[in-house]
Amino acid sequence: MELLNDAFYMRLALQTAAGAAGQTGVNPMVGCVVVKEGRIVGIGAHLKRGEAHAEVHALNMAGSEAAGATAYVTLEPCSHYGRTPPCSDRLIAEGVRRVVVATEDPNPLVAGSGIARLRASGIEVDVGLLGDEARALNEAFNHFIVTGIPFVTVKTALTLDGRIATRTGHSRWITGPSSREAVHTLRHRHQAIMVGAGTVLADDPELTTRLAVPGLNPVRVVVDSRLRTPPGARVLNAAAPTVVLTTDEAEEDAVQRLAAAGAEVVRCGPGPRVDLTAGLKALGERGIGSVLAEGGGVLNGSLLEAGLVGKMMLFYAPKIVGDGAPSGFAFSGPEQMGDAANIRIVSIERYGEDWCVTGYPERRGEGG
Ligand SMILES: NC(=O)c1ccc[n+]([C@@H]2O[C@H](COP(=O)([O-])OP(=O)(O)OC[C@H]3O[C@@H](n4cnc5c(N)ncnc54)[C@H](OP(=O)(O)O)[C@@H]3O)[C@@H](O)[C@H]2O)c1
Repeated sequence: MELLNDAFYMRLALQTAAGAAGQTGVNPMVGCVVVKEGRIVGIGAHLKRGEAHAEVHALNMAGSEAAGATAYVTLEPCSHYGRTPPCSDRLIAEGVRRVVVATEDPNPLVAGSGIARLRASGIEVDVGLLGDEARALNEAFNHFIVTGIPFVTVKTALTLDGRIATRTGHSRWITGPSSREAVHTLRHRHQAIMVGAGTVLADDPELTTRLAVPGLNPVRVVVDSRLRTPPGARVLNAAAPTVVLTTDEAEEDAVQRLAAAGAEVVRCGPGPRVDLTAGLKALGERGIGSVLAEGGGVLNGSLLEAGLVGKMMLFYAPKIVGDGAPSGFAFSGPEQMGDAANIRIVSIERYGEDWCVTGYPERRGEGG
């Protein structure tokens, strides 16, 4: 039985926040629950960038009941005028007695000042309840707001021997329907989906979100130094915007052809290959804070080597395809096992016959 205490209400606020995953753009997911004398009087989530914050929805619902109430908020209430007025001012104006905050806002515009403002007005503020859960919920936002570089999650479907296709390049399907449904849910929850030119040429994927209920399509990003993507490729159809990252070496004619087919072509570095850091920065400048990198192995390997992978979700199917088949991470690896990329695994989940291993690459010097 779940006990009725501060954690119960904060968990509810976190669940409310998480429901909006994928629809807040570069903004964080935030939930708020307002409780007065043992009753929930207001509940809200931030649903869309530019629209009301979670506290405002919850306080509007609470109305006059907000006076003397406790507000549970998953992220520090803002203190600055952004697209909406400061939530800390609104909490003060409503006469809320106590505010429980899961985590401080890493946004340099806030970073503790919202909490300080509440305290200065005499509101009791407790910080840190379910903080780890709240930080995990907004891992992409937390990274993007301080670096300007989108948080990259590498998702790959692999055989048990670490291959992403057969020796002929055939890859449909490695994993089963329930893994693929999970991947479409991941697409809905990311702002962009990225593949290399090799995958476009091999599979001609559409890279849209296809679920039993309508989902959101992320921006599609193709990493293509020589603009080998054919103008008729499905990734260029009208279902979603497409950005092609290329190099200064790419022919202007080819740029124009892809632009005419609907893509935004962005030159990232002198070549011969796309400068992935510059490419991610360019995506950040376009308001993209999270990227789901769906391969193939060459792109995965480059992202990992460049230290650009924030998270990995590796879906393993109970299959073995043997020699000659492409590997999930194609890069010239280290000589010594001690120099291998270490992944801190946080979960192993079953999807039908498959297993999804989720983890975070450790930076050199971190971990054991
Ligand atoms: N199982 C899965 O989850 C999965 C997912 C995707 C693909 N696949 C399979 O993987 C195979 C294709 O994989 P792939 O590894 O050949 O293709 P890829 O990783 O999708 O594309 C690699 C290509 O991207 C271009 N590129 C440009 N800049 C780059 C950079 N900085 N780093 C890396 N690549 C860069 C390069 O081509 P240019 O030099 O011409 O630009 C490179 O050859 C297919 O058989 C496909 O079916 C499987």
